[in-house]
Formats: sequence, C-alpha cells, structure tokens
Amino acid sequence: MAIEITPKRPSFFAEVSGVDLRQPLAAKQWQEIQTAFHEYAILFFRAQPLTDEEHIAFSARFGPVFTATNYHWKTEARRVHAKMADISNIGTDGAILPADDERRFHSRANELWHTDNTFKFVPARCSLLLAREVPEQGGDTEFADMRAAYDALTEEKKIEIEDLVVEHSIVYSRTLLGFNGYTDGAKQELPPVPQVLVRHNGQTNRKALYLASHGSHIVGWPKERGRTLLDELTTHATQSAFTYRHKWHPGDLILWDNRCTMHRATPYDEFNTRRDLQRTTVSDEINSVERRELERASHV
Ligand SMILES: [Fe+2]
Repeated sequence: MAIEITPKRPSFFAEVSGVDLRQPLAAKQWQEIQTAFHEYAILFFRAQPLTDEEHIAFSARFGPVFTATNYHWKTEARRVHAKMADISNIGTDGAILPADDERRFHSRANELWHTDNTFKFVPARCSLLLAREVPEQGGDTEFADMRAAYDALTEEKKIEIEDLVVEHSIVYSRTLLGFNGYTDGAKQELPPVPQVLVRHNGQTNRKALYLASHGSHIVGWPKERGRTLLDELTTHATQSAFTYRHKWHPGDLILWDNRCTMHRATPYDEFNTRRDLQRTTVSDEINSVERRELERASHV
C-alpha cells in the first residue's frame, strides 16, 4: 500500500493515509513518514485503533518515550498505561470524573496555548495523541505553526529575540489559573528550567518560536518587559493565519513536533460527555539552550 500525504494546511498539517500503524512499517514507509514529519510538523493518521503497545511502539520510533508522572494529583492510581498521559475526563472507575476532581483543573490548563514538556530540562520532541472516545460537539484541538509565525516576523524582531532564553515552569502556568496544590516534593522535582525562545532545527534548517504557557519570563530582563514580549509573540503566533483546528473522531492519531508547534484544547460538555484521548510523549535529547550552544560551538 502506498503512503499518501495530503496537506490540510500547506507546510504545517498533513493527513497521512495508506498505512496501518498496527503493522510493522516497511523501511520506505518509515522514511516517507519521517520526511513528511519534518516538512509538515503535524501528521494526522485516520482510523488507527492501536493498542497501548502498538501506540508506544510507533512512538518509540521517534525516540525515548517518557514515563508519565503524577505530578498533578496526589493519588497514585492510574487508569492508563504508565507511558500514557491520560487526556480524559474519566476516572479509574470508568465513570466521568466528579465535578470537583482535581484532574479537571489540569485539563482546563490544556486550554492555554502550550507545547508539551517545555517545563522539563530536556523537553519533548514530539507527542502522539490517539482518540478513543470523543464528544459529538466541542473538544477540538487547535494547533499553531510556530515556524510560519517566526518566518513572518520582521527582521528587526528576529534579531531582537535571536539569543533570548525563557524560564519555563509548570508551577507558573498552573498558578496562572489559580492552582497552588503542588506538593513540596513535586515542586522540587519540577524546578524552573531555561529554554531558547527561537529554536533551530538542524534537520529542517528552519527556525521556530518556542513558546508555551509555562514560559514565565525572559532571563535577564525585567519581568514586565519580558512578559510583554512573550504575550506579543503568543498573540502573533496564534492568529488564524497560523492555526488549524482539528475535530476528533475515534481512531484519529495526531503526531506533532513540539519543537515548532503549539496546541490547545477547546471546551466541551465535560460534565455530561465522555472524552478519552491518550498521549505518548517522546523526549528530545538535550535541553534547548545546551543544543544551541553546541550548534554554535560546532560552527566556530
Ligand atoms: Fe499538550
């Protein structure tokens, strides 16, 4: 079966058809998927009812898969595989979560524009989100093309932001929504980390704005001045010219490059309708500031 790549948005979001991800991929298929991943940054595979093991195995082709951690809530009980982030409103009993369940708060935080795991020193390379149950209305995911957003900046702005470093913290982004429930242990495990503001990808030789709700301020700048710049860039990058909205169907799998996209969830009737998606997250190799230093050292 030949793989077909159908762009939904030029150079940003493409549908991949003609491949069954439950089966071992031929070398040519894998090559075509990798090429499309670099070109489009977001790939959509329709009708892929993968088991957890198949989902993890495909994810692992892109790099090491993070083990999910329960930083957000105190119970250790998990409904899903240890390598899956549970993007659902469903509890361990299989029923819709109670209205006051703390997980609802963190789901709401996903409605802020972000890219996954920038709050970790070694952030995420890509994520793979698979839909199992979805509401008929709402619960879409929006994506933003951070390479196009970068390309559209003025040359003066590109020069101004080229070397900047942003501090990222999940404690910061959750505090924005009024959540102060992190344990001291979680805070110690999740200290603020530095990430570049402009990410260069050596494989595509393209640059992208690297922004997320976790980015609190610009290192070395007065807080207010840094905030103003981060807000300005986020507003710029999330205009409709750079975004795409996906309506989920069961079996949809979306792979996105966290290094050059942002995404956010959108609301749905979360108290009465089930929504069950599961995500694997693939780690990058090193911190983004370290990578930039290495790249620059290699060009001296
Ligand atoms: Fe996310």
